[in-house]
Amino acid sequence: MTTPTATSEAAAGLPDLADLTQLANALFSAVPGQLVPASRPPRPVAVGAPASAPGVPSLGAFNPQPTLTALPATPPFPVSQAAYGNAAAPPSLITPRIAPTQAQSADPHGAQAGIAPLVTRGGPALGVPEAYAAAVPAAAPPPAPADAGLPAAHQPAPGSPYYFIGESSAYQPAAARAPASDLAATPSFAFPGADALPAAPAVAGNGAPSFYFVDAAPAAGTAPAGPRPQAAPAAFERRKLFDVEAIRRDFPILAERVNGRPLIWLDNAATTQKPQAVIDRLAHFYAHENSNIHRAAHELAARATDAYEAARNKVTAFLGASSPEEIVFVRGATEGINLVARSWGVANIQAGDEIVVSHLEHHANIVPWQMLASEKGARLRVIPVDDTGQLRLDEYQKLLNDRTKIVAVTQVSNALGTVVPVRQLIDMAHRVGARVLVDGAQSVSHLRVDVQALDADFFVFSGHKIFGPTGIGVVYGKKALLDDMPPYQGGGNMIADVRFEKTVYHGPPARFEAGTGNIADAVGLGAALDYVERLGLENIAQYEHELLAHGLDGLRRIPGLRLIGCAAERTSVMSFVLDGWKTEEVGKALNQDGIAVRSGHHCAQPILRRFGVEATVRPSLAFYNTHDEVDALIAAVGRLAQRR
Ligand code: ALA
Repeated sequence: MTTPTATSEAAAGLPDLADLTQLANALFSAVPGQLVPASRPPRPVAVGAPASAPGVPSLGAFNPQPTLTALPATPPFPVSQAAYGNAAAPPSLITPRIAPTQAQSADPHGAQAGIAPLVTRGGPALGVPEAYAAAVPAAAPPPAPADAGLPAAHQPAPGSPYYFIGESSAYQPAAARAPASDLAATPSFAFPGADALPAAPAVAGNGAPSFYFVDAAPAAGTAPAGPRPQAAPAAFERRKLFDVEAIRRDFPILAERVNGRPLIWLDNAATTQKPQAVIDRLAHFYAHENSNIHRAAHELAARATDAYEAARNKVTAFLGASSPEEIVFVRGATEGINLVARSWGVANIQAGDEIVVSHLEHHANIVPWQMLASEKGARLRVIPVDDTGQLRLDEYQKLLNDRTKIVAVTQVSNALGTVVPVRQLIDMAHRVGARVLVDGAQSVSHLRVDVQALDADFFVFSGHKIFGPTGIGVVYGKKALLDDMPPYQGGGNMIADVRFEKTVYHGPPARFEAGTGNIADAVGLGAALDYVERLGLENIAQYEHELLAHGLDGLRRIPGLRLIGCAAERTSVMSFVLDGWKTEEVGKALNQDGIAVRSGHHCAQPILRRFGVEATVRPSLAFYNTHDEVDALIAAVGRLAQRR
């Protein structure tokens, strides 16, 4: 019996996926005997054509979405006015970006306040902390003391300053150190360059905001903005980057009540809520476009395929990838990491090789590499953190050598909120020839990401953490790497030709998308990215930065509360423990007040144990949270602190 073998499509000289799709569509739509045209003629597009019924486009009449780039046209979809948060918002309301100023990158206030100045796209580090842009420290680490509290396997090996699993630790257990929060200094944070920013924007006379952004022109007849909540810092008053109340109206779930109180959703690191634009997009897909993709010739297959590939184009632009062929749809960041470990990893990791992860990682960026290391006889090594919760680049440098094959590191810690200097990590890894996978699950909704500027080899994220649906996520991989990687799963959709003797695979991304994918949710993710781009990640980052400083400042004043993690570069997360209270008790008590936070180990047990705890309470922010909500959290936790 002949064993089936596989070759790559490229090797076989086959046409690309788009051509195959067109040919397949043409073939199946042709009557028997009819010649197949070389390509499908362009779809009729009736720009601005009236819909057959209010809010419902007639078949074949499509309203173009606002396009953000020169990429192929986005799929037809009527976006309800409510999705823009105001009746006046035109499709051209594309993010007016606020360029980072010299003052922002030079201002010392952030460092004084315990959070580094925000760096946005175009800044020297592309959203990466500048504190680590300097050269890696050359100083030797402290001598490794033996620790009676550690099992023998975890005692520092003589002469080894490195921390890696099962071998040694140069670091004292957390109980022996001062609480990390004692090192924090978060008060009186003022946003760098706030004085230079324009005054608060006008809102429509009827109270409905016309514009989210200060640099959008105010509508005629507008009145000054209403008073801000008392707790809002003056800098925010002056700057007012966008109207958070208008944004909140785009998220229907934020109007829910829980235990008789307005819902305060502070569990954004676990999942984010969905704007009406995403909900509408999903409904529109199922009402007007639903079909399997790539295989059939009928109208709905064409619509579904167009919508799915348009979503891929949006992800391409969002991440700054060079081609949609570098974007693979998966279920989420976890599946993305598993894909890279099982495909690239199995093909490239050998016995004796080293895989580097960091102490901050989510279990999803530990366990797949452990499994691979165990299978291959490779070694997992761990970048330690300092007492603030930031990675130690000096120790990282010592871990790197010619056995290092891949570094897998998060960009933002889900448990502490630490923003990791991934660009520096990537540069350092590349110097020894290692590849780098960046886990962007917690970063993409807070920081502008540009995978080419970072020079990331792989980058993964989950749609549900960036206001998109659950069950959809993305692997970005450099084209040359994906081209050389074997399939992750076999099945339909990923093949160009199947014979019992031999199967020919498609090139990426189809090679990695076996079976029927999550078509609708990919399309929904595209709508979520459109929404985020309309707000602008730079605007989001600035707003959230101030909200975080406000929250940390309030929480740290509560007697008996210990913040876990106090890196100078942080986003979104305010992990803490409270004397006399179990974390789940705090979570339940806050729920009584309608406040949703996660309590537990957050799938990041190693980093919590590094700080001497098994669990924390973890409020986490998104751009739709307000200063009032943060004040409600602080007040509620303060009341708990007084009870025990
Ligand atoms: N990874 C998600 C979290 O941090 C689930 O909560």
